[in-house]
Amino acid sequence: MLAALFLVLLLCDEVQSLTGPEQVHIAFYTSPWDISLSYGTSTASMQNLTGTTNTWIFGGITRHSHVVILNNLKPSTQYYYQIENRVFNFRTLPANLSSYKACVFGDLGVYNGRSTQSIINNGIAGKFDFIVHIGDLAYDLHSNNGKLGDQYMNTLEPVISKIPYMVIAGNHENDNANFTNLKNRFVMPPTGSDDNQFYSIDIGPVHWVGLSTEYYGFEEQYGNTSIFTQFNWLTKDLETANKNRQNVPWIALYQHRPFYCSVEDGADCTLYENVVLRHGALGIPGLEQEYIKNSVDIGFAGHMHAYERMWPVADLKYYKGADAYHNPVAPVYILTGSAGCHSSGMKFSPIPMPWSAHRSDDYGYTVMTVANTTHILFEQISIDKNEAVIDSVWVSKDSGHLHTEERRVEAAGQKFY
Ligand SMILES: [Fe+2]
Repeated sequence: MLAALFLVLLLCDEVQSLTGPEQVHIAFYTSPWDISLSYGTSTASMQNLTGTTNTWIFGGITRHSHVVILNNLKPSTQYYYQIENRVFNFRTLPANLSSYKACVFGDLGVYNGRSTQSIINNGIAGKFDFIVHIGDLAYDLHSNNGKLGDQYMNTLEPVISKIPYMVIAGNHENDNANFTNLKNRFVMPPTGSDDNQFYSIDIGPVHWVGLSTEYYGFEEQYGNTSIFTQFNWLTKDLETANKNRQNVPWIALYQHRPFYCSVEDGADCTLYENVVLRHGALGIPGLEQEYIKNSVDIGFAGHMHAYERMWPVADLKYYKGADAYHNPVAPVYILTGSAGCHSSGMKFSPIPMPWSAHRSDDYGYTVMTVANTTHILFEQISIDKNEAVIDSVWVSKDSGHLHTEERRVEAAGQKFY
C-alpha cells in the first residue's frame, strides 16, 4: 500500500511525550518539490532524521517545533511519512506544472470558522493543490497562551499535513512579542525575511509573493526598519521576476490589509492608514507603486470580512468593461477575507466604490485555477450557499502583455512618499 516510504521520524523517548506529535503541517520551501515539514511535540528531541528542533517559550509554555526540509522530491509522487505511530501522506505536484489550483482566503478562526470543514474536505479530496492563508489565523494563534493556536493547527492538521499551507501575518498575528507565534509555528520559503513575514516562490507560471502589511500597521510598536527592508527586497524581487516573465508570466501578490475595498467600516480602504499603505507618507515607502510599475497581475487581500472583486485599478484610476480582464491595464485585486472571522461579518458601504466589480458578504473562500500561461480563473465559493460558486472571472493576457505604459511610467517616476 505504501508506494514510497521515504521518511520515518522517531522521537527520543527519554522524556515521554504527553500528547504525541501534533500540529503536523507542510509548506513549499524553495520550490514546489522542496517541502518544509513541521510538527510540535512536548519533547525536545527527535532522531533518525536530518532536521532541526526549535524550542520557544510563549505565555509561560515551552513548545518544541520540529522541522524537516525535504529537498528534490520526485514530481507526481505520493510520499508517506511517519511520526511516532502516526502516518501521513502527500502527493507532489507534476514536473510540467502548467496548471493547478490554489485555495486562497483570509481571516479564519477557531470560533465561527465557517469555512474550516469545507476547506478540509475539499483539500483532502484534491479540489485544490495548496492553501494560501493571507493573515488572521485562529483569532488568535497566541490566545490563551497559545493554546488556541495549538487547537487551530490541530483542527486543520488533516488538510495541512497533506497539502502545503502558506501563510503571512495579519494584524491578529501581532502577539505583542514581535510575531513570535507566526515565526515559530511555520516555515515559509527562505527567500525573503527569515521569520515568515515576506517571501516569494515560483509555482508553475505564477511568481507568488507574500508581504507584511503589519509592518505598517504596527510601525509605532516595532519601528519602521522592516518597512524599508521589505520594500527594498520587494523592488529587487519584482525586478528579477519581471526579467523572468517569459518563463513565469504571472505575478500574484498577497498581503493582509487591502488597498481597495468598499465596506462600511472602511477605514483601511479610505482613510489615512490605507493611504500610507498604498502611497507611503513621511518618508515611509508605500507598496502600490511597486505593483503598478512592475505589472503585478493579481493582488489578494483579506482583513475586511467580505469578498470583493475589483476592476483593474491603479492609483484610484479604474478600468471597467466587458473585456477589462483580458490584457488588464492595471492590477486586479481580490478581497477574500470571508473565510470565518470570530466576530460577525462586515457591512458594505451603501454604494460600492467605482472600482468594485462584485461583492458578497457570504462566508467563503477563493479557488484560483491557473489554467495555463495566459489564463487564470477565479471562483468564489460560498459557504452560506452550500459551496456554490457565487462569482467567477477569467483573467487572461497575451504573451508578453504588461499594464498600460502610462501608468507604469507614472508609478516609476512618482515618489509616493
Ligand atoms: Fe485583519
